[in-house]
Amino acid sequence: MLTDDLKLWFFQLDQLLLQLQPQWRLQPMQAKALPFADAELNALLLSLSLEQCDAIDQNPVLQQHYFAGFFPLLFQLMPQLPFFQAKGLSLPFWLSTDIGGRKWQQISLFAEAVGKKDGTVLEWCAGKGHLGKVLCFAYHNEVRSLEWQAELCQQGQQQADKLQLKQNFIEHNVLQGEQQQVFSGVDQLVALHACGDLHRVALQAGVAANCAELHLLPCCYHLQQGDLYQPLSQLAAQSQLKLTKQELKLSVQGHNTGGERVRRLRHTEVLWRRAYQLWHNEQTGSELYQPLASTGKHWFSGEFAAFAKWAASQHQLHWPVQQDGLCYLQQAQALLLLQRRIELVQHLFRRPLELWLVLDRALYLVEQGYQVQLQQLCEASVTPRNLLISAYR
Ligand SMILES: C[S@@+](CC[C@H](N)C(=O)[O-])C[C@H]1O[C@@H](n2cnc3c(N)ncnc32)[C@H](O)[C@@H]1O
Repeated sequence: MLTDDLKLWFFQLDQLLLQLQPQWRLQPMQAKALPFADAELNALLLSLSLEQCDAIDQNPVLQQHYFAGFFPLLFQLMPQLPFFQAKGLSLPFWLSTDIGGRKWQQISLFAEAVGKKDGTVLEWCAGKGHLGKVLCFAYHNEVRSLEWQAELCQQGQQQADKLQLKQNFIEHNVLQGEQQQVFSGVDQLVALHACGDLHRVALQAGVAANCAELHLLPCCYHLQQGDLYQPLSQLAAQSQLKLTKQELKLSVQGHNTGGERVRRLRHTEVLWRRAYQLWHNEQTGSELYQPLASTGKHWFSGEFAAFAKWAASQHQLHWPVQQDGLCYLQQAQALLLLQRRIELVQHLFRRPLELWLVLDRALYLVEQGYQVQLQQLCEASVTPRNLLISAYR
């Protein structure tokens, strides 16, 4: 994509997000009624069941079918970025030991998309350095893997030594101190799923070190120090759109990559937590949301009353023995349906927001003298965070 196209795309998205703020700057969990002014839109939402909401929410084709008429520009501004055309790397099975199927797909696709023979690669926030291993193996790269957890470094190094790969782990906090040294002699920076500030620093440090190639698949834009989003590019800095952490979170929210069982368990968990909250509010006379610790999924295949008893004990309350909680579950069901209907509209803005953020990064790199390529590394079912930014000096 040409620089002018990137700028135009960003500008149009920016205008649209600003113009349609009332449709996405919302707190669906707190809503008592549909907040939209459009009677036809409300009528459509009221006709949808929870199952339909879930199905539409996870499916871009259905989203378009139901909502393109209400938000035509939003859909027009979502031209599909090209998909990376993989030919497939030929990798031995033992290289993928201990790596989950989807993660392995992401790693091997990323490696194939950016891999180049020989050269020195800096792997940012490497974890156990699986990506680095594949690059060492398939492209004979020398890989420097940065990771702050000593244990992951040790495990990664052991594995690399066993396989006789030229991969060196460095225990390093990328958010602190001097970065120039770690870039010395580096040809390529790779960062697979480094969250918010971690990939922001990767970009800035890579630019400062004049690194020839930067490849990032960003995620979790909301994991940042500041309360408000700090734009990287001049164009985003001039925008009226000042994104909060909560809004940054929206860009990565609610994608379901699990199967039907995972979806059902998640639904039960949300419903039960909501029902318990209603009982809690009644007991304490407070509308304030009382967070509950995350807990084992096994609770959600049992009885609601058992979960509620556990939850009450977390708040030093007593769940009555004879209470089956049915009335709270019914109220929670209605509130959850309202929440889902609102989210259905709000979630149409997830991808536009994510693209706004990715374009900010791309434009920053352009301003710093790089040629930038954007593509979708894989289908969203492999990872919804599939936007690959590649920058070349
Ligand atoms: C989401 S994981 C990604 C790991 C790996 N790139 C992958 O895709 O499998 C993020 C990694 O960043 C590491 N990390 C978090 N904060 C860090 C920091 N300040 N400095 C270095 N590494 C950090 C974590 O320990 C974790 O291994």
